[in-house]
Amino acid sequence: MIRFWSYKRELKRYKKLINQKINKSLNSGQIFFGNELKEFEKKFINKYKSKYGVAVGSGTDALFISLKSLGIKKGDEVITAANTAIPTISAIRSTGAVPKLVDINDDYLINVSKIEKEITKKTKVIIPVHLYGQVCDMDEIIKISKHYRLKIIEDCAQSQGAKYKNRFCGTIGIFGCFSFYPTKILGTYGDGGFITTNDYSLYKKAKRIRFYGIETVDKNNKFLNKYYSNEDGINSRLDEIQASILNFKLTLIEKLIKRRRQLARLYFKELKSTDLILPKLNENSDHVYHLFTVRHRKREKIIKELKKHLIETKIIYPYPIHKMKTYRDYFKNHKRLKNSEIKAKEIFCLPIYPELKNSEVIKVCEKIKKILEKIN
Ligand SMILES: Cc1ncc(COP(=O)(O)O)c(C=O)c1O
Repeated sequence: MIRFWSYKRELKRYKKLINQKINKSLNSGQIFFGNELKEFEKKFINKYKSKYGVAVGSGTDALFISLKSLGIKKGDEVITAANTAIPTISAIRSTGAVPKLVDINDDYLINVSKIEKEITKKTKVIIPVHLYGQVCDMDEIIKISKHYRLKIIEDCAQSQGAKYKNRFCGTIGIFGCFSFYPTKILGTYGDGGFITTNDYSLYKKAKRIRFYGIETVDKNNKFLNKYYSNEDGINSRLDEIQASILNFKLTLIEKLIKRRRQLARLYFKELKSTDLILPKLNENSDHVYHLFTVRHRKREKIIKELKKHLIETKIIYPYPIHKMKTYRDYFKNHKRLKNSEIKAKEIFCLPIYPELKNSEVIKVCEKIKKILEKIN
């Protein structure tokens, strides 16, 4: 069986070290906001060249808290890509704002030439989603945001470590939002998320919002033990156990991304002679291959045949946002979202994770080649 994803091999390999980290944090006497969290926040921003960072409970919370820190509320509009993950939209909706969707390019990233059409007097924010591991065309998005005085929140949930013209994603917009959901580039063994920013007052605000709106330290960084809320906040903590696992896994991150790239290269090599449409690379960005997304008009057949040979694949995502009943009413501009609709019908993702073996990738490719010969 070739699993689409599993943490079991990773756990087997690093079990001793992960258990040591968990035990150490359990014995520290700190469950939240302890040394592991402080260390992780510091290491994450150092690695990704951001001035400030706030660890939170999930990637969804990272987006919600960032939007809330900018004062986004009912009556506002936020622009994003039609093919994004549901949580981008749920974060926007949780503020009361309305999402406005833009179609995508063949690289599955927002089509920047279509953003301006969606801008109205109510538009406040653009959320470029760096989907599958590649960064959007940020130069153009910055130009538009400057012209219309909009803020940019980067959705980096799938692209940790990817760069745009030598700048890490998450440092280009006013906020960068990351997810540590187990399947992600830096996955933990539970939920987690992160917000990066270079703006001190927004950092302080995001930090308050993650903890019921409470200011925890005074001007001299002295701990304030006061249950006093300075603003409307939520509870979105990253606990010490998760932070300790993340501290360990962050030391491996370059190795993990390198391995994903090796596997992607192997897929490209093995599949280049087929009519499967392989990932289109964006020349200004590198790719961290959170997912290896391919396309074929007969995808259902391919998926079914692969399953028969015990090879798992996944469609990420099968429905563009405007095709889901929950969100349908917000979008009257379906005709403008054709590319995301076509892509959603043809895409599927092949297994790619650091512990996957070369021989397994070769096996997947051989099976695909045979299936294509039969169905074409
Ligand atoms: C593009 C994108 N944005 C946001 C999120 C939300 O992250 P989380 O699952 O940690 O809340 C995800 C994760 O699924 C994602 O893929």
